[in-house]
Amino acid sequence: MANLFYCWQKLLSRVGLGTKLIQNERKKKENNKLENNELKKNTNFSPEALQLFKALEKEAPKIKDLLINSYKGIPTSPEVEEEVYNYCVTHSVIFAVTTSNPGTSLLTEFLYEGISSPSPLDNYFLQCKAGKAVKARLLAIEKELPRIIEEYLSTRKEIIIGSLGSGPGRDIIEVFSKYYRNNFSVKAILIDKDKTVLERGKRMAAIKKVENQIEFIEGNFLKYKPPRKFDIVLLIGILCPLTFETCITILKRIKKTLKKGGCLIASNISEKMLKEDPFTYHIMKWGANWKMIFKNEKELKKIFEKAGYMWRGCFSDAYGFHIIGKGIPRFYF
Ligand SMILES: C[S@@+](CC[C@H](N)C(=O)[O-])C[C@H]1O[C@@H](n2cnc3c(N)ncnc32)[C@H](O)[C@@H]1O
Repeated sequence: MANLFYCWQKLLSRVGLGTKLIQNERKKKENNKLENNELKKNTNFSPEALQLFKALEKEAPKIKDLLINSYKGIPTSPEVEEEVYNYCVTHSVIFAVTTSNPGTSLLTEFLYEGISSPSPLDNYFLQCKAGKAVKARLLAIEKELPRIIEEYLSTRKEIIIGSLGSGPGRDIIEVFSKYYRNNFSVKAILIDKDKTVLERGKRMAAIKKVENQIEFIEGNFLKYKPPRKFDIVLLIGILCPLTFETCITILKRIKKTLKKGGCLIASNISEKMLKEDPFTYHIMKWGANWKMIFKNEKELKKIFEKAGYMWRGCFSDAYGFHIIGKGIPRFYF
């Protein structure tokens, strides 16, 4: 009898796992279909793309034609594809850093800070809607974060913010230097697996004179156990390429680092980016393996809720290309 019960349990868990895998596969297929439809539908190039083509016409006309053909799905030989790829890597620092690591904060930092003498390709990435939306996301966070800090400061003596996958932590450094310099009731812990970006963050914090309020920790945030739990957690630019199930698992894990009533702020790229700037998405996906799983507000809310958070609404960048959700852990462990 016990044996039968065990077999039944095993079967149920396998069915459950199978359903999750099927759901993930279905979402991936939907995502691919959406991408193909958008790319086929949208052959009108943006003014920024037209400006790029004009610049390439003088500098590398063949590359211009090949980029357009690749976008239109016209098959090419491996030799030609390699020629375009090599051109892009050697003529764009943005393309080069992304192709070597699609999740690097060097990409976001270029988009935040700009480049002094950009090549035509880099100028395109900085000027296109998708590039500008990343900077707009930073500005949206810099606007919203102080409001949330103030809300928590009204009932708590001290606020600890955890930024997971922080990069150098430009958002926290800007907010601290504008509103909380030398206010030691507001502190932050920045965690990133990339040591060099943390070293950069330390320099940036020192320049803005907020280094005494920020701790930089090198490591995997999924394994991090904070000595004191966080009041607010930032998870920006992390979930975008991940499946629904992986996002839920990560958010569940993060719940353990939050204090009771604490707030998670997590962003994801939305379909609007693909619809309004399919050419940029195509170049980045084709060459730099920058693949996204677009999620709308309803889907992000579902991820928060399935991971055990109470949805507190969301905000967005000025282009609506990123949804930034807010949630409070529903159960406290
Ligand atoms: C796209 S960048 C975003 C940086 C920053 N949050 C921002 O919004 O500008 C992603 C960063 O997350 C870091 N990262 C990704 N997964 C991580 C993990 N499991 N543990 C620690 N850092 C991680 C990467 O090293 C990278 O610096």
